[in-house]
Amino acid sequence: MDGDITEAAALRYGSGQEMELPVITGSEDEKAVDIERLRSTAGLVTLDEGFANTASCRSAITYLDGEKGILRYRGYPIEDLAEKSRFVEVAYLLMYGDLPTAIQLDDFSAILNSSSLIHEDMRHFFLAFPNNAHPMSILTTMVASLSAFYPVPENPNDEEEAQIIANLVSQVRTIAAFSFKKFIGEPVVYPSYKLRFVENFLNMMFSSPVSSYEQDPDIVKAVETFLIVHADHEQNCSTAAVRIAGSSLANVYAVISAGISALWGRRHGGANQAVITMLRSIQEAGDDGRQFIESAKNKKARLMGFGHRVYKTFDPRAIIMKKLCHRILGKPGMTDPMFEIAMRLEEAALSDDYFLSRNLYPNVDFYSGLILKAAGIPFDMFTVLFAIGRTPGWLAHWREMRHSENSRIARPRQIYVGPLKRSYIPVNLREKHSVGVMRRSRTKIVVSKYPEMADPSGEMPEMG
Ligand code: CMC
Repeated sequence: MDGDITEAAALRYGSGQEMELPVITGSEDEKAVDIERLRSTAGLVTLDEGFANTASCRSAITYLDGEKGILRYRGYPIEDLAEKSRFVEVAYLLMYGDLPTAIQLDDFSAILNSSSLIHEDMRHFFLAFPNNAHPMSILTTMVASLSAFYPVPENPNDEEEAQIIANLVSQVRTIAAFSFKKFIGEPVVYPSYKLRFVENFLNMMFSSPVSSYEQDPDIVKAVETFLIVHADHEQNCSTAAVRIAGSSLANVYAVISAGISALWGRRHGGANQAVITMLRSIQEAGDDGRQFIESAKNKKARLMGFGHRVYKTFDPRAIIMKKLCHRILGKPGMTDPMFEIAMRLEEAALSDDYFLSRNLYPNVDFYSGLILKAAGIPFDMFTVLFAIGRTPGWLAHWREMRHSENSRIARPRQIYVGPLKRSYIPVNLREKHSVGVMRRSRTKIVVSKYPEMADPSGEMPEMG
């Protein structure tokens, strides 16, 4: 189904002109007004800042109903996949449309394994990063650099496309583990053919030349579930970035790097780090959560891990993450006081009119950081784990787009609100005319080590 035209919407504009716009219906009965002919017929464009009302494409990958809290990959409920599937199967499902047969799964695992090493020369790049460089900055750079080592044909055939996909799914994980080793100053550990996807990653992260890593099946399952629930989320900020960059027919490695960059921000994938920062600040302040809730209501702080552009009820991924927290943090020796604080915060928020009236519920990031923390994943790697999980989703969208007949370069319009045409002013006459946004200053600009944690927007989770 490619979105059938089922009815029409009428638009009245100007001095009584009317135009009919086709209404497209998707497979779950969601409707969209098709405005393709709007500008050529009526001379109008639409204005939708933040794209809250705009469908940018037709897609058969993920279905999401934000009012009902439904999320399905290729028709399969996220709850079933999280419980029963492996990440590699889900990656295959997103990419190729169906769960793999046993033979297809073997083949897919084999190509992921054989593609897991990165070119040895790329290891030199890691040396050039400063110590303690954030693993997200290394990941985004290294993924873009893959294009120099693995040239992509202009129009890859099926086999070449399958290799590109395997390279990225597998090598993003290898680069992630290597970037962590760089971060802590240890030699890298190579991927192993003997280990499955998640075990391989944990081994690359935590074993070293002097100590082996013992796999805990509960931790493996927790990380596997984390990756599955992050694997796709239709047209979110980073996937939209992937589609926009990919629409120019840019190299796929650069395209995925664009997705990783978009993911980094704390309104998106960076929120899983920001939630832990927030919980820690609440814990250190000895707050039972109420003071923080007040700060959030007064707009002095943001309750990180809450709210979503699309979900107006519980994010189903948050429910899965919370259950997993109970399972993992309920194990002997695994308790975390931050889980208690998080649950108290959730309870306080969900009995407060500020949050209820705005439909602000926990999103995937509210509990996911606690799971990663319990799994021993270092704080700075949280968003990197999100990127490993989301890579199959980004690639599935890239693949869908390149095989779509409707694919065009993404090029939105704008409404210009700047000055009207004016005469050029020579430099010696400018001062008395200029408003002056830049001044000469001797003040040294201090740049935070992690610029994404600085707070130009007042959205940092700080106490009021
Ligand atoms: N805490 C307090 N108030 C909030 C929050 C929050 N977390 N989120 C939204 N609001 C308020 C906001 O101030 C606004 O209030 P008012 O109507 O009085 O102006 C109203 O709710 C609508 O918010 P918005 O910012 O217009 O909503 P949005 O759809 O543009 O933003 C969001 C969505 C996810 C960026 C936002 O809810 C947010 O910043 N949440 C915290 C960050 C976070 O958890 N991000 C992860 C999102 S899920 C995973 C992912 O996509 O990566």
